[in-house]
Amino acid sequence: MDYAGRRERLRRLLRRQNLEGLLVTDRLNVTYLSGFTGDDSFLFIWTNGQLLLTDTRFTQQAEEECPELDIWVRPVGGTMVDGVRRAARSAKVGRLGIEAENISVGFFDRLSARLARVELAKTTGLVEQLRQIKEPEELDRIRQAVWQAERALKAVWAALRWEKTERELANELEMHLRQFGASGSSFPPIVASGTRAALPHARPSCRPIGSGRLLLVDWGANEGLYQSDLTRTFLLGRITAKLCRLYEVVYQAQQKAIQAIRPGVSAEQVDGAARQVIAQAGWGKRFGHGLGHGIGLAVHEGPRLGPARRNQPNCLLQPGMVVTVEPGVYLPGFGGVRIEDVVLVTRTGHEVLSSLPKTFEQMILE
Ligand code: GLY
Ligand code: MN
Ligand code: MN
Repeated sequence: MDYAGRRERLRRLLRRQNLEGLLVTDRLNVTYLSGFTGDDSFLFIWTNGQLLLTDTRFTQQAEEECPELDIWVRPVGGTMVDGVRRAARSAKVGRLGIEAENISVGFFDRLSARLARVELAKTTGLVEQLRQIKEPEELDRIRQAVWQAERALKAVWAALRWEKTERELANELEMHLRQFGASGSSFPPIVASGTRAALPHARPSCRPIGSGRLLLVDWGANEGLYQSDLTRTFLLGRITAKLCRLYEVVYQAQQKAIQAIRPGVSAEQVDGAARQVIAQAGWGKRFGHGLGHGIGLAVHEGPRLGPARRNQPNCLLQPGMVVTVEPGVYLPGFGGVRIEDVVLVTRTGHEVLSSLPKTFEQMILE
C-alpha cells in the first residue's frame, strides 16, 4: 500500500483548509495513513513530516509495520498529550486540525489546556474522504472478505436444519468465516427467523430457525483489515402470496438501485431508485433505513447511500467507491426481507462483487 502517497493527498487537503498539521486519532485513519494496526495510537502529520505516537505495547509492532516513520513512545507515567505537545512544538505547527468526530470532550479539553499556543481547528471527514476511493490492493482485500463471507454462508446453507437455533446458525457462520481465513466477523451476525425478521438488526435468539416462514441472515467477514457485509433472506415452508410479493418488491428495488450505479450519479438518486419501487408497492414507510453505505477498513464508511440530509452535500459516485446496496421492508408481526450485496463503482458503471444466489426461487428452503 502506498502510505506516503496517501499522506501527500491528505497534505493537499490540509493546505486547502489552511492547516499546518493534523492530529489523526481515529484508529482506522491511522492505519490507512501508516499501515500501523495497533490501538490507542495517533499519527501527527504536518507539512513535511509525520510522527506515530504510541506506547510500549506497540513499540516493536510499530517499527515492523511502519519502518519509514518516526515513532514516539509514551513513557511510563506520561500522557499522549505530552507527545502531541512536543510534536507540535518541534514541527512549529500553529494551526492544528483535530478529528472532531472522533475525540472525546475530555481529551479535547486536555489538549486545549496543554497546547495553549496552538490553534486547534475541528475537521470532519478529511481522511475518510480519501478512504472512499479504493486502490487496487484494497479492492483485492475487499474481494477476499466477500469471498470468505460467501464461502461461510454456503457451508452453513448446505448443513441447514430447521431445528437449529438462530444463535447456533450465527456461531456456525463465524466458525466457517475463520475456517476460510477471515480473522472473524465484520460485526456480530444477524440471524432473525419468522416475525423476528421484522427487526432490521435483530440479535440471534434461541428460537429455532424453522419456527417461521422467513430467515434473514446479515453477516460479513473481517479479512484481517478489510470488511464485507451481505444479507440474504430465506423462505421456508408454505410460501404465501404476500411473502412472494414482499420478496419480489425488495428484489426489484435492489436490482433497480444496482442498475443506477455509475460514476456521476448521486447517492440520493441510487437510494431513490430503490425507494420508488418500495413506495409504489405501498411499503414506503416500512423501508426505514438508508439504501447502503461505503465499506472498506470499516463496515460502515462513506459514502452514505440515502436521501439527502439538510446541510450535507449529496455525494456523487466515483470510480473506486465500494458500497452496499441493501433495501429492506419490515412488517411488524409478519416479518421482513432485506437483500444486501457489495458493489464497486467502475469507470463505466458498476461491478457486483458478491455473487450468492438471491432470486425468489433460489431462496426457498425445502
Ligand atoms: N449489517 C449492518 C448493515 O447491513 O449495515
Ligand atoms: Mn449488513
Ligand atoms: Mn450494510
